Amino acid sequence: LINISVYLSQSLVPDELTLKDKNVVVVDVLRASSTILTALVNGAKEVIPAENVSVAARISKGLGNSILCGERNGKVIEGFKLGNSPFEYIPDNIKSKSLIFSTTNGTVAIAKSKFAKSCVIASFLNLNAVVKHLLETNDDFTIVCSGKFNDFCVEDSVYAGLIIAKLFEINSKTNYTLLDSGYISYQISKQLIYKNSKPDQHRVLNMFKKSEHGKYLMSLGFDNDLEYCSNIDLLNCLPVFKNNIIKLKESFDSEATEKSKMKRVNISNKTGNSKNE
Ligand code: MLT
Repeated sequence: LINISVYLSQSLVPDELTLKDKNVVVVDVLRASSTILTALVNGAKEVIPAENVSVAARISKGLGNSILCGERNGKVIEGFKLGNSPFEYIPDNIKSKSLIFSTTNGTVAIAKSKFAKSCVIASFLNLNAVVKHLLETNDDFTIVCSGKFNDFCVEDSVYAGLIIAKLFEINSKTNYTLLDSGYISYQISKQLIYKNSKPDQHRVLNMFKKSEHGKYLMSLGFDNDLEYCSNIDLLNCLPVFKNNIIKLKESFDSEATEKSKMKRVNISNKTGNSKNE
């Protein structure tokens, strides 16, 4: 049996050791995970999450071709180049750059996953890629909802429930065990966003519009962000958080292949030398 754990807010994860050696899925659908996905698909070299503004500034000093990005209260941080709207992360702004990214809840949740066995970043935009990854992992996993101001938020829990619902559809309920937080997330997902036995984008958008954070973002004029973040499976990609950096899974994979090629070349060179010696 595969155990699914769900934290309904990052504040319920007491420290970094709690997620040590776990397979983690970090969720902040409005908007940090959706923005990270968009940035990487649009050509950012990497995203480096920073817990707070001073850590972000310190990282940027030691790093070339990087920009400071992120929000507090939904607005761009003073002195930072970009905020947290996915629409800011167009190739012209971010191509080949390292993005040092600090947000109120999302990047805190990511930072708490730094000792995880595996960690992926998830939103409605990449549902299928996340579900596929969990099916391949075939092991216990933990969903960390970022939540809002150290509390529960409906949109992250609905999405956590959607991951669970998809796995149940593909792999049968009987293969999984859920605690109350997972059970309630599954139930509200079914209740709030399903239509004719499928998740429905209009219902996702409606749920956003009724959520506290959705209402707040609309009050700042970010209505388009809500619409964009409600797209189910718009982006077929899987951002992975490893060694304190977020990159698309294929970037990590191709780096690993390159490294193992280089090792082979070194070894064969050495063998060649020793013959000559
Ligand atoms: C967060 O990390 O709390 C959110 O992504 C806030 C936002 O929508 O900008």
